[in-house]
Amino acid sequence: MLRSVFLAAADSSRLGRLVSSATLSKNAARRFVAGDDVADALRAARELADDGLAITVDHLAPETSTAEQAKAVRDEYTELLGRLASAGLTPAAEVSVKLSALGQRIDDKLAFEYALAVCAAAADAGTSVTLDAEDHTTTDSTLEILAGLRKDYPSTGAVLQAYLRRTEGDCRELATTGSRVRLCKGAYSEPESVAFQDPLDIDKSFVRCLNILMSGEGYPMVATHDARLIAIAEDRARWFDRSAEEYEFQMLYGMRTEEQARLAAGGNIVRVYLPYGEQWYGYLMRRLAERPSSVSLFGRALVPG
Ligand code: FDA
Repeated sequence: MLRSVFLAAADSSRLGRLVSSATLSKNAARRFVAGDDVADALRAARELADDGLAITVDHLAPETSTAEQAKAVRDEYTELLGRLASAGLTPAAEVSVKLSALGQRIDDKLAFEYALAVCAAAADAGTSVTLDAEDHTTTDSTLEILAGLRKDYPSTGAVLQAYLRRTEGDCRELATTGSRVRLCKGAYSEPESVAFQDPLDIDKSFVRCLNILMSGEGYPMVATHDARLIAIAEDRARWFDRSAEEYEFQMLYGMRTEEQARLAAGGNIVRVYLPYGEQWYGYLMRRLAERPSSVSLFGRALVPG
């Protein structure tokens, strides 16, 4: 129930404008978002790198409805990648990109062209790009664009969502040499026809997908805060003889930081998903949808005025 309230709030631009303008809510968001601009992202990335963590930086862009906005997102990523390289933060830091921000809903050829430019900037910076997964209506287009990008930039990563019924098949397709796959549960509100709804069914799907990725030839990126799934991933890595360099854990900035440190201290690669940008409101609502108990953390701060 609370989950759907937060997911609806994430899509409400009016509420977003109201909440985003309140200084108190901005301060509350700081625990989960690096700040508004590239300088904030670099500062937070430096701190994470100093703690021995890898990073994937995500720019929280306003919703893209014109080609100009998509171009501005491309330019933002190009600048970000140049500055990450100048600051000596690559290859520890890579970037995560939403194709919708690069114009996928306007024209997927445009999104491909702009994503190609971001991949080129990442290659110049000595790092790579991962394409975030969005709602299920975009999955086919995203995987097609991924295949196109990987012809020139084979290290471009994909994200697969365990809640989608199709994902085991997608894992099989992508568990090949050189392929980087982030496996997560999935963060959107999806219909039963395409997605498991019961949390236990989602967890079981996650484990089946994990088995395929860990036993395959690619590089699995296990994105979860769930202690049980983390333990299962460690077990599967041992079972399939993967060394600590042959897979990684990923968690969101500000979430389970002690667990991030514990895994890194144990010799694991741990990559932190670091968002920055003025459009933090929708991102924060999705996190609250996943973990409504965190609402006490924001509580009064989210009420403007
Ligand atoms: P979930 O939220 O289901 O929690 C399960 C259990 O984990 C809890 O019961 C608790 O035991 C423990 N736990 C969780 N959070 C905790 C906390 N803060 N403190 C203590 N215990 C805690 N989604 C998407 O659709 N597309 C994408 O591209 C991405 N990308 C992405 C990148 C990265 C790096 C991550 C970590 C996640 C994503 N996601 C995503 C989001 C993902 O799909 C999912 O919605 C969230 O990660 C929440 O699911 P979890 O697997 O973390 O566990």
